[in-house]
Amino acid sequence: MRIVDIITRKRDGGELARAEIEFFIKGYVSGDVPDYQAAALCMAIYFQGMTPQETAGLTEAMAFSGATLDLHDVAPFIVDKHSSGGVGDKTTLVVGPMVASLGVPVGKMSGRGLSFSGGTLDKLESIPGFNVNLTLEQFKRQLGEVGVVVAGQTQELAPADGKLYALRDVTGTVPSLPLIASSIMSKKIAAGADAIVLDVKAGHGAFMETVEEAVRLAELMAQIGGRLGRMVTALIGDMSQPLGLAVGNSLEVIEAIEVLHGRGPADFREHCVEVASEMLLIAGAAATPEDGRMRATKTLADGSAWRKFRQFVAAQGGELPAIDEQARLPRAPLIESLTAPVSGYLARLDAREVGYTVVELGGGRAKKGDPVDPAVGVVLAERSKVGSRVEAGEPLLWVHARTSEGLAAALARLAQAYSFSNAPVAAPPVIHRILRTAGMSSPGKSLTPG
Ligand code: URA
Repeated sequence: MRIVDIITRKRDGGELARAEIEFFIKGYVSGDVPDYQAAALCMAIYFQGMTPQETAGLTEAMAFSGATLDLHDVAPFIVDKHSSGGVGDKTTLVVGPMVASLGVPVGKMSGRGLSFSGGTLDKLESIPGFNVNLTLEQFKRQLGEVGVVVAGQTQELAPADGKLYALRDVTGTVPSLPLIASSIMSKKIAAGADAIVLDVKAGHGAFMETVEEAVRLAELMAQIGGRLGRMVTALIGDMSQPLGLAVGNSLEVIEAIEVLHGRGPADFREHCVEVASEMLLIAGAAATPEDGRMRATKTLADGSAWRKFRQFVAAQGGELPAIDEQARLPRAPLIESLTAPVSGYLARLDAREVGYTVVELGGGRAKKGDPVDPAVGVVLAERSKVGSRVEAGEPLLWVHARTSEGLAAALARLAQAYSFSNAPVAAPPVIHRILRTAGMSSPGKSLTPG
């Protein structure tokens, strides 16, 4: 078999055999297939797509490209959640501790920033000392002792996703349904989740721009999960504007801490409660969605989620004073506001532009392996989300920058990210739809609206 023939077949719209997909994944992980050929194949998949069979084959090849965890000696039932990517999406930092504080273990493998979308690992690493590179032993031990653990791909767990993810980030090959589905599901399967709540985002700040596309992605992932005996539920969340107010690694940690204290922006809080509630429901720890929401909300109000977050941070080496006194988290030296050019109702706040601005400020990567600046980013004003009324001259957001050139470029770019209307504008819903399986997913089974 030759990798160039595989690339050519996909480029010309052909279907790849399972053996060819496995040949590619094995070769890429071992280093026999170089980055340039892997990038060419990803681009061919981006343009030509994959059949459900190819996508399932790719997912399984990636999931089994390293070890797979069996966590049942530590906990009888493991729940995981995964976001398909968005701007200001720091949900894991909040829902992991919320759910774990109710006795439901959360063992999660997360990713780094991807294109305009931030990554949970980069966010957590803005806490001084926080270690996302855990051995399988450490992962298991922490899951048993603390009930929540978040790690990155390793040479041991789903190494194919680790390599492909970093490659896609810098080769314009992220927004591809089969590549996203296989990336997400391979990680979930390798990390040993019994049940997975998919937090699929729809809008211009997500890789799936419409609710319909997001539903297709959710259904594809549910089918893959079903083939491998996993329970899957999906929420379709709005990503036309950033989630919450903070975008940027350390700024998002600060916002997550606010929510863990029962404060923070209402949309992000609502999103976390909905995702946590679905995790409780799928784990059998809540009887109904209302019960799930009630239990999840209580963990924020009574401090149990915050206490679990502290335990989780300490277990992974993070410095507690940095989260107890947020002034100790990395802060950018330059902060300047962007003000509203006119009075009116905010009609558009382009999440993708905000995401790219943060990448350009240094919060994301231009090349594989680039370091990220934990401190830079954007914080939106509370009254500057779609549907709000703003007055000319009032601040819409604050840019946190490392250099004055970066600051000026960010302010200029963000000025173009807004539109205003004289007539009132409806705020988008936080959650568009919830799709639940009736029980264990079975091969080919479709999700049904919940
Ligand atoms: N999250 C992932 O883990 N992979 C993707 O491709 C997109 C979002």
